[in-house]
Parts: sequence; structure tokens; C-alpha cells
Amino acid sequence: MNILDHNKINFLALENAISKPHAYQKSTVPFWDDPYISTQMLNFHLDPEVEAASKKAETILAETAFIEETVKLDKTKAVIDLGCGPGLYVNEFAKKAGSVLGIDLSQNSLDYASKTILPQHKNVSFIKMNYLDLQEESRFDLATLIYYDFGALNLQEQAKLLDNVHRVLKKDGIFVLDVLTDQARQVESIDVKFHQKGFWSPEPYMEIHRKLIYKDPLIRADQYTIMDEAGHVRIIRNYDRLFTMSEITNLIIEHGFRITGLYRNLQGDPWNTSSTTMGLFAQKI
Ligand SMILES: C[S@@+](CC[C@H](N)C(=O)[O-])C[C@H]1O[C@@H](n2cnc3c(N)ncnc32)[C@H](O)[C@@H]1O
Repeated sequence: MNILDHNKINFLALENAISKPHAYQKSTVPFWDDPYISTQMLNFHLDPEVEAASKKAETILAETAFIEETVKLDKTKAVIDLGCGPGLYVNEFAKKAGSVLGIDLSQNSLDYASKTILPQHKNVSFIKMNYLDLQEESRFDLATLIYYDFGALNLQEQAKLLDNVHRVLKKDGIFVLDVLTDQARQVESIDVKFHQKGFWSPEPYMEIHRKLIYKDPLIRADQYTIMDEAGHVRIIRNYDRLFTMSEITNLIIEHGFRITGLYRNLQGDPWNTSSTTMGLFAQKI
């Protein structure tokens, strides 16, 4: 998309590019696998002090310890980590599990994961694929989808993901995920910044960041409209469905699971109604 028309700014096009999209309207670029953006993302993943693309290193260790203890992970068990990124969770699960498969859309993250993890853990493999296209059946004892990625999916995708996970799990297999709750609402705002180079591009660009909120269902979103000096525009949109306890548990149950654990997070802290996050364990029936 370009908002220059015969060397003039097309204000109507610009207004459209920053307008509030309908909930779950897609980004105009596949940013997870964009070579430059995914390199920036990888830097965030790997910063142990920053809670951005991945959680902090100490949080990951506490979460993997709690998950491993809860599902009694051992060398008889096969794990699949959906949206594994650079494999920070895979690396921990590999020490206890029989096998671990990490899947992700980002080639950059998978290259890093393969380079750092495969030499140390012979029981690990990585595949570049969309978890919405997962086809296998009854192969895994544990499936994980961590860092609120479930809520980034639209309603049809959430249903598809749950069906896929149900199919790939063995009988009594466990699905572990975390979501944001209705207590994580945000106030709508708009913010404009100019960068010589930055997260979205190595070239100068303008970033118009809108924080958005939708009701029924409750969703919060971040929309970044990125315009370069030539007027070329990319729009990146991230969504977070904010679930009540009954909404998320009913949805999971409708797809053939029983809820076996519900916490404030995946470290096992007790959940209460003011929690902004929720960690869930669901068993395939
Ligand atoms: C917020 S990051 C979390 C990464 C990892 N779970 C962690 O916590 O370190 C989300 C990851 O999901 C991947 N991803 C997003 N949509 C995906 C999809 N449809 N299929 C597979 N991977 C996806 C992204 O490339 C990214 O690595």
C-alpha cells in the first residue's frame, strides 16, 4: 500500500491506514517471518531481562519446572511446543522428556533454536509450520502453547487450534496454555513516533501506534501503521482476546477436554478474579 498519489499525500488513504480495524482484521504483512522484523524479535526473545517476545529467563524456568512436575514429564513422554520461537521452553523440556518437537512460523527463530539446541539434545526436532495446519494424530503426551498466543487467534482459528491439539494428543494427553483475562483491559490511545531505524525497519519510518479495545467479545489490540519516506505503508496488528474464566474453560471443554488445572500463571500461583493472566491444564477426554 502506498499513500503517495502523484507525489501528494493521499489523506484519505492515510486516514484508512490508521483507522480502527474490525476485530481480528489481519496485518498487511506476514511479520513473524519477515527477515528484518524476525531478527529484531529474536533479540527480544533472547534478552533474559525483557518480557517482550518471550518471558524472562527466570519465569521460563519456573514455568517449565511447574509444567514438568504437574504432568510428571519423563523419558516415556513426547512433547510438542506450538509457536516454540527460539526454543527456550523446548530446551528445558528436552532434559526431562523422551522427545520434543518445536514448531514455528519464524525461520529465523528456528535457525537459532536448531543451532543452539540440536547439538546438545538428540531428542529434539524443529519444523517450520503453521500450527493451524497440524495434521498428525495421537502422537504426543503434552502440547504447549505459551505466551498468550491462543488469544491472538480469531474465533475460527481458536476452534481449529483446539481441534488440532485434540487430534495430535494421545488419549489422556495434556494441553497447557496461558491466556490474558478480562482484567487486562487497556485504555484506547494513539501515539506517533519517528525513527531513523528501529524495530520495524532499518530505514527511516513513521510509526503510528494505536492501542485498541473491543467488546463482545472482549479483545485488546495494538495496531502499528508503519510508513517509510516513499509513502509505502505496512500495518501490523496484534490481538489479545481477554477471557473470563468461564469463557475459556467452556471453550476448551467444548472441544473435548477436561480442565485439570487453573492458575494465575504457568508457575502454579493461585488464580483469583483480579488476575490479568491465567495458566490452564486441559486433558484430552
Ligand atoms: C510471543 S512468541 C512466543 C514464543 C515462545 N512460545 C516463547 O514463549 O518463548 C509467538 C511465537 O509464535 C509463532 N507463531 C505465531 N503464529 C504462529 C502459527 N500460526 N503457527 C506457528 N507458529 C506461530 C511466532 O513466530 C513466535 O515465535
